[in-house]
Amino acid sequence: QPIRRADYLPPDFGIDRVELEFDLEPARTLVRARLAIRRIGASDAALVLDGEDMELLGLALDGNALAADRYRLEPTRLTIPGVPDAFELVIDGAIAPAANTALEGLYISSSVFCTQCEPEGFRRITWFLDRPDVLSVFRTTIRAERARFPILLSNGNLAAARDLGDGRHEAVWDDPFPKPSYLFALVAGDLAVVEDRFTTRSGRDVALKILVEHGKEGRAGYAMDSLKRSMRWDEETYGLEYDLDVFHIVAVSDFNMGAMENKSLNVFNDRFILADPATATDLDYANVEGVVAHEYFHNWTGNRITCRDWFQLSLKEGLTVYRDQEFTADERSRAVKRIQDVRVLRARQFPEDGGPLAHPIRPDSYLEINNFYTATVYEKGAEVIRMLEALLDRDGFRRGMDLYVARHDGEAATCDQFVAAMADANGRDLSHFLRWYGQAGTPRLTLEQSHDAATGTYALTVSQRTPPTPGQPDKLPLHLPVHMGLIGRDGAEIPLRLEGENAPQGTSRVLELTEASQTWRFVGVEAPPVLSINRGFAAPVVVESSESEDDLALRMRADADPFSRWEAAQSFATRLLLAGIAAAAEGRPPPPTDAFVAALAAAFDAVEGDPAFAAELLALPGELYLAEQVAVIDVEAIHAARKALRAAVAQGLVDRLRHVRTGPPRPFAPDAASAGHRALANMALGYLSTIDGPAAAMAQYRAADNMTDRFSALAILSELDVPERTAALADFHDRHAGDALVLNKWLGLQAGSSLPDTLATVRALLDHPAFSYGNPNKIYALVGGFAGNALRFHAADGSGYAFMVDQILRLDPQNPQVASRLLKAFGRWRRFDADRQALMRDAMERIAATPGLSPDCREIVGLSLAS
Ligand code: ARG
Ligand code: ZN
Repeated sequence: QPIRRADYLPPDFGIDRVELEFDLEPARTLVRARLAIRRIGASDAALVLDGEDMELLGLALDGNALAADRYRLEPTRLTIPGVPDAFELVIDGAIAPAANTALEGLYISSSVFCTQCEPEGFRRITWFLDRPDVLSVFRTTIRAERARFPILLSNGNLAAARDLGDGRHEAVWDDPFPKPSYLFALVAGDLAVVEDRFTTRSGRDVALKILVEHGKEGRAGYAMDSLKRSMRWDEETYGLEYDLDVFHIVAVSDFNMGAMENKSLNVFNDRFILADPATATDLDYANVEGVVAHEYFHNWTGNRITCRDWFQLSLKEGLTVYRDQEFTADERSRAVKRIQDVRVLRARQFPEDGGPLAHPIRPDSYLEINNFYTATVYEKGAEVIRMLEALLDRDGFRRGMDLYVARHDGEAATCDQFVAAMADANGRDLSHFLRWYGQAGTPRLTLEQSHDAATGTYALTVSQRTPPTPGQPDKLPLHLPVHMGLIGRDGAEIPLRLEGENAPQGTSRVLELTEASQTWRFVGVEAPPVLSINRGFAAPVVVESSESEDDLALRMRADADPFSRWEAAQSFATRLLLAGIAAAAEGRPPPPTDAFVAALAAAFDAVEGDPAFAAELLALPGELYLAEQVAVIDVEAIHAARKALRAAVAQGLVDRLRHVRTGPPRPFAPDAASAGHRALANMALGYLSTIDGPAAAMAQYRAADNMTDRFSALAILSELDVPERTAALADFHDRHAGDALVLNKWLGLQAGSSLPDTLATVRALLDHPAFSYGNPNKIYALVGGFAGNALRFHAADGSGYAFMVDQILRLDPQNPQVASRLLKAFGRWRRFDADRQALMRDAMERIAATPGLSPDCREIVGLSLAS
């Protein structure tokens, strides 16, 4: 019963107008839908509406009540045969928001009614053609008790509001833009409103309103500032303006994902709205900025132009992630943003691409679409857009965007149509590039270089190969940008002149790889150069290179591309770590680190003046990334090797690290430059604690005037088995008791600890008042945090696996989306030793054998076991 992309058929009916009436009561809410329906397909087609978990109270067609024999009601649909070509259908139904623990459709979060309809939640509100290619104009009437629900919101503009006399009131909202049902939203509750205004370039005065829990108003300022900067950026970068008189953001505490771009009524997980110096880290601030921008940018890439079907999800998500990444790059540091995004891609998407859940950015089939809101669709999707920018250059990309918007505004489009707009606007054939949409797996590039001193010719051969993924044994060569430069031994960039060209064309070029293997010849290259390849990470690939340590060291300090300087440091460190992992596994001493430490010191000295970049340079590759690089994952060896290299770096750079921590204290400000200073100071503190122990971290913990410095110190202490650890964790809890978002950090830190009693701690925390199974943020922090703790989740006795199975089975009946996300932790089971493989397989079989398992979990466990 999987849904296949190839089976797409346009709908038989359109719904031009939707009038919804809600009588809100937490236990039982009445929903009336008045639908203006028009036949667009075959004359004999029955009307089949999606609907789940609702009570049908009445049906009327053109004013006449339908008798029970005129329709068929099944658990997931309502079929009405023999309908006319154009008619009005009125559906009366009842739903139970207070009992909705799946957080899809209409539910209640801390006494506030809210909705989540993407992808298929609207069918839990009323019966509908709940698919993104059915676009309707919505009018929404909301009635509720005024005292408990003073604020009543839906999409669009407020058309009317009145008192109903009986303690209840009513609001009517009109959204003039046709939209699919997944963009519908309703919010009702008692919330505080933070207001501001924005004037668009063409003079529209927009009211901006952020709604938060009473008492949290002071934490909404950064989100508001981010929103205004996003609105300005989209005008300046793409000429795209906001199109209504009001823009609402509502922060709720119970939310499965990050946020949702409902037309003019974004609903957010409150962790991506609320931020102040005492409770939010610099990472939290950056996330608020990025997610606010992301959801705002969806107004064009997602809402004005939506997706034809859910297989096209990356059409809006990949593009919108690319847009929010570019916004952050423009607002903050481009190099640092690129490094951070590549880190996330490698830690989350590369493993997905290399495992049983591998899928193309445009999947071919699914059982449960919620399972495909993945790093592949989002982050790799953004990389594919970024490659188009590299191939067409910035101006060409902008021309393509303009054409895409001009052609498809108001439509439900496909990925093919997006690429066609890019091609047509630039007179290019991008049919080969389209393979990126259909082929899963991370391509691997290999290099061959030769230099002919007699003719001054340097030849570079690049070959590509994509490993097989489930269902795709054979891969075709892809069309990708090879962004490269050549560096002389003196560290100077070499002008790049290809054979046949009259003159060099810059020192950094994008070559286009389309074949399995291609060779480029550069002339005027006097001596063998050092190759700098995949600059800026222009293509989401693995470059297999056997670069010498000397070349890596040269590029670490002299590469003109800052990303590549960082990348060279990561490659050098990875090489040492892999040798260290092998040594740890075999009980041999670790490899010598002097050359790397010296290179790191030189690279560090070369970046003085950019502390955020220096902090990235000092951050060693993570355990998840390293796990991907070895044949059989040995979590203990990985942890030990990384710890050993950290100690060696600390020793080798000790003077520099101490110097970083001198100087007068700076007043707190959330901007990127201030955050960079904190990032570097805290990186240094972490290294120095391997030499000095907990004293400095404890002092900083006590003296900190902001959450970044306090929490960084706590995170360092949390990895040390010392009395200060217990004291600081207890103090942190007491300081922030009652603040759910801060206590989630506290839960996550303990769940991620490498100390041996972590599982026992996590079990005990399940009963702590800071934890609750009803709140996804808490589950992700504690249970998800443990699943991400490779060392403890993969404990050799299987205790971590058994714990996770219990948690997943407990969560699945109440919130399958959350359960299935946790279940993905078992996906890479084939990469472990035989004992762990057996334990992980048994764990998954226990899940598979559970009666009543959700389709969400059934799909993930099925794919994982089949690999
Ligand atoms: N469209 C939202 C965003 O990326 C994500 C909503 C996903 N929700 C879900 N239940 N899968 O901005
Ligand atoms: Zn999105």
